[in-house]
Amino acid sequence: MSKKIVAIGLVTLLFSSLSAYELKSNMLLLNAELSEVQRAFISSDQTGVEESVKRFAKHAQDLLGNKEKFSSMLPEKKKNKANEAVMSAQIISHNVQIILDAIENKHNQSGQVRREEAQRAYTYIEHACFRCHNIVRDEY
Ligand code: HEC
Repeated sequence: MSKKIVAIGLVTLLFSSLSAYELKSNMLLLNAELSEVQRAFISSDQTGVEESVKRFAKHAQDLLGNKEKFSSMLPEKKKNKANEAVMSAQIISHNVQIILDAIENKHNQSGQVRREEAQRAYTYIEHACFRCHNIVRDEY
């Protein structure tokens, strides 16, 4: 094998494991950010929900909103499923907006209704995570 081929092989290997590392570490961070939102909901900390959901939403859009970028992090045989990322980003941003509207009382509803709407939207965000894991991540 020529040195050039070995070098190309090494660079490819390094690059693909860096992308895998990037995906994994981003997912861990996203999970930690979503846990903050969950914690704030459980302790009925409205300011905490607002702050944590904004932080989470920004990262979720950065990670999932760009099909090419997400595709570059996926292993070769899964790249054809990268459009699921954009779909997930849309579900997430729709439900983040429901939470922010409830906090702002945009639709002039009672406190209890606003809470329930926001809490339900939070569970739909979790559902978007599961959905993609079932379609893209997991083999069974
Ligand atoms: C578009 C698809 C997609 C969406 C949406 C998605 N994930 Fe993932 N997630 C993956 C893939 C693919 C992996 C596997 C990465 C790996 O193991 O290298 C993964 C792995 C993970 C892991 C495991 C990391 C590890 O230690 O191996 C966690 C935790 C995680 N995701 C959390 C979340 C959370 C929380 C959400 C929702 C906010 C979410 N994911 C949304 C595709 C997605």
